[in-house]
Amino acid sequence: MKNSVIFFVALVFTVGWPLYAAAKEKPSPAGGEKLYRRYCSPCHGTRGDGRGFNAKNLDPRPANHTDAEMMSTRTDRDLYDVIYGGGRSVGKSTLMPPWGRNFSKAEIDSLVLYLRKLCGCRGL
Ligand code: HEC
Repeated sequence: MKNSVIFFVALVFTVGWPLYAAAKEKPSPAGGEKLYRRYCSPCHGTRGDGRGFNAKNLDPRPANHTDAEMMSTRTDRDLYDVIYGGGRSVGKSTLMPPWGRNFSKAEIDSLVLYLRKLCGCRGL
C-alpha cells in the first residue's frame, strides 16, 4: 500500500512537472504583451508606436512596432535576433538593448508574436 502511494506521487511529479513547465513556457502573444509592457514600453510606448516616455531622449528613435509597412520587411527571425542580441548585434543602434540573457527562448518567441499583433502584419 505504502509503495503504491510513493509510486503514485513519483508518477505525478515525473509526468506532471514537465507538462506544467512546458505549458508555462509555451509562447503566446498574451505572454509577450506582459513582457512588452514591463520592459519595452518605456522606449517603444505602451501602444508600441515608438513613443515611450524615454523616446525623446533617444537618437535614433525607438522603432514604431505598429508600422506594418516597416515591420513586414522584417522576418520573425530578424525580430528574434534583434531582441536577443540588441541593436548592435544586427548593425543597428546600441540604444536598443540585448535581452538574450534575461529572457528564455519561449519568452522572446512570445515577444515576436506580440510584435506581429501590434503591427497586424506578417514577416517576409
Ligand atoms: C532603452 C530603450 C529601448 C528599450 C527598453 C527597448 N528598445 Fe527596442 N529599440 C530601441 C531603439 C532606439 C531602436 C531603434 C534602433 C535603430 O533603428 O537603430 C529599437 C529597435 C527595436 C526593434 C526594430 C529593429 C529593426 O528591425 O529595425 C525591435 C523589434 C525592438 N526594438 C524590440 C524591442 C523589444 C521587444 C523590447 C523589449 C524587450 C525593446 N525593443 C526594448 C530602444 C529600446
